Amino acid sequence: MRFDIITLFPQIFSGYLTQSLLAKAIDKGLVEIVVHDLRDWSTDLKHHKIDDRPYGGGPGMLICVEPVVNCVEAVQQMGHAPGTVVLTTPQGDRLNQRRVEQISQLDRLILLCGRYEGFDQRVIDILKPIELSVGDYVLNGGEVAAMVVVDSAVRMIPGVLGDEQSSWDDSFSRGNRILEFPQYTRPPEFRGHIVPEVLLSGDHARIASWKTEQSLKKTQLRRSDLLNGD
Ligand code: ADE
Repeated sequence: MRFDIITLFPQIFSGYLTQSLLAKAIDKGLVEIVVHDLRDWSTDLKHHKIDDRPYGGGPGMLICVEPVVNCVEAVQQMGHAPGTVVLTTPQGDRLNQRRVEQISQLDRLILLCGRYEGFDQRVIDILKPIELSVGDYVLNGGEVAAMVVVDSAVRMIPGVLGDEQSSWDDSFSRGNRILEFPQYTRPPEFRGHIVPEVLLSGDHARIASWKTEQSLKKTQLRRSDLLNGD
């Protein structure tokens, strides 16, 4: 199985990938892992900037659509098959053993590691990644979550564990929260995908109610258990 990991911090993976079971799986040729630096696809040749302020206001910076889409498309060209794209985000479907087993049966997985406040929504609209969360807590970035995905999937690949039994525990403590609304940064239009008009309106009251409405819609759709408080 081939894993491609797209990150702003490629060096985070160098220690992890050279250790223990994973290093042996790579040595045995059962697993191939290629790490890519997202900054290499920055359109800002001087400072290699890849983020910008969110339209409609709000804290933090968003990763821009263009470098991410260009990077993923270039990485897809590098392998024998385009593979399945996974975005690690606290807003995704929770990873569980059933999901891990499905992933371990894939030929190729492209893992996009989230950072800062997140990505321009068009990254998701265009690439349509599987959004995966490793739990209801916020990590500093998606790198650790990507390691969780790689680590858990590699164990399921025949020949990696030898005769050992795999064991797992999917216990999970629930938090009460509401999911995030879609966010956008420059440019206002990319490949026909436009930023919702309300975010460009400058009307703070309308923007606030749009954000609440989007959050509720998304939460109802994906995690109605959070709204029911169970
Ligand atoms: N990035 C930040 N927190 C995360 C989480 N809980 N799961 C996946 N990616 C994340």
